[in-house]
Amino acid sequence: MAETTGAAGAGTATVLEARGVTMRFGGLTAVDGVDLSVAEREIVGLIGPNGAGKTTFFNCLTGLYVPTGGEVRYQGAVLPSKPHKVTQAGIARTFQNIRLFANMTVLENVMVGRHCRTREGLWSAIGRGPRYRAAERDARDNARELLDFLGIGKHAGSLARNLPYGDQRKLEIARAMASDPGLILLDEPTAGMNPQETRATQETVFKIRERGLAVVVIEHDMRFIFARVNESRIGRAWVAIREDETAAGAMGINGFRLKLLAFGLGAGLAGFAGAINAHLINTVTPDQYLFAATSPPNSAFLLAAVVLGGMGTITGPLLGATLLYLVPVKLAFFNNKQLLLFGLALILMMRFRPEGLVPSRRRQLEFHEEEIAEAEAHEVVAADAQEAGAAA
Ligand SMILES: Nc1ncnc2c1ncn2[C@@H]1O[C@H](COP(=O)(O)OP(=O)(O)O)[C@@H](O)[C@H]1O
Ligand SMILES: [Mg+2]
Repeated sequence: MAETTGAAGAGTATVLEARGVTMRFGGLTAVDGVDLSVAEREIVGLIGPNGAGKTTFFNCLTGLYVPTGGEVRYQGAVLPSKPHKVTQAGIARTFQNIRLFANMTVLENVMVGRHCRTREGLWSAIGRGPRYRAAERDARDNARELLDFLGIGKHAGSLARNLPYGDQRKLEIARAMASDPGLILLDEPTAGMNPQETRATQETVFKIRERGLAVVVIEHDMRFIFARVNESRIGRAWVAIREDETAAGAMGINGFRLKLLAFGLGAGLAGFAGAINAHLINTVTPDQYLFAATSPPNSAFLLAAVVLGGMGTITGPLLGATLLYLVPVKLAFFNNKQLLLFGLALILMMRFRPEGLVPSRRRQLEFHEEEIAEAEAHEVVAADAQEAGAAA
């Protein structure tokens, strides 16, 4: 299980401290000595393939499982081993497989999330005195505010099971936040979402942090993690250096250090990829990596793949590489002229679609900002018209 930390904006006080957390099921060790510390207002990403033990680790943090080894402290105190007590202590969570109260309304779901912060008992509910009414109003206002915060306020009265999938995930987050946690654990919040919803969820995670919470988010999708770097102090500094290094320097950006970091990161990723490649083909020789080696992946191939697919995304270059691998097979004529083909692809792309086939949003904006702004304005107008129509 890998761990990445979004340090930007994080406080210094430690909220969560896990030491050597281990969980065994019979002979299977699902979580093996995991250490994790989370600072106030920090966003931490946990990544790893299916079955790596990420959800099990969350279950250990939230009292669903009692770890067979190790210790978890929340704000200095050892965590209680009952889920409701963990929530009471200030840790809230969502589930990988959505677990809403399907036949309660959206609003009621969030009000249940506030259960441990209100004290009204049975007699109060039967008597319905002023204190009961005040507590109800408070829970309702709190729930409405959270629904608006997540942008699903208009569904307050619907049954949870009737919400679209993406909104159900948002509702789970609202429900978790209703307990006023200091730390929220999100188990694959973007699973099954389309790119727009995924981006919106990323923004939500940042907004949650702005409300003073620390966030641990499980993702098996690496894009989420990279997008986070992109929209961070470091990511913006990198783009700023590319735009104008002198002006970036005047903003206090240490160009040398950041370029070194980019170089190191690139070299690290390339080394990792090289190790996978070597493992696959069982040999490594320097001439496999010449600019114009006889067979792909040579540098010309990789460059063409990136430019063709689009920079700044993972999908783009993968698509580019797939296309470049498939096309020459079909055109036997070109087989010895791959470089020519790559060159042609580069020229055509630069001329007709410089942002690539599947560009990142930043690249899209760089090339087509005006059209995008116009299209989005149309979308908003259309959505407004639709809503007005529905209201009428
Ligand atoms: N209650 C359980 N009993 C037995 N094995 C379990 C239990 N919960 C999880 N596991 C096993 O632990 C491993 C890790 O699962 P999980 O934490 O769900 O992975 P991830 O969330 O990283 O995909 C899996 O092999 C899974 O089968
Ligand atoms: Mg999981």
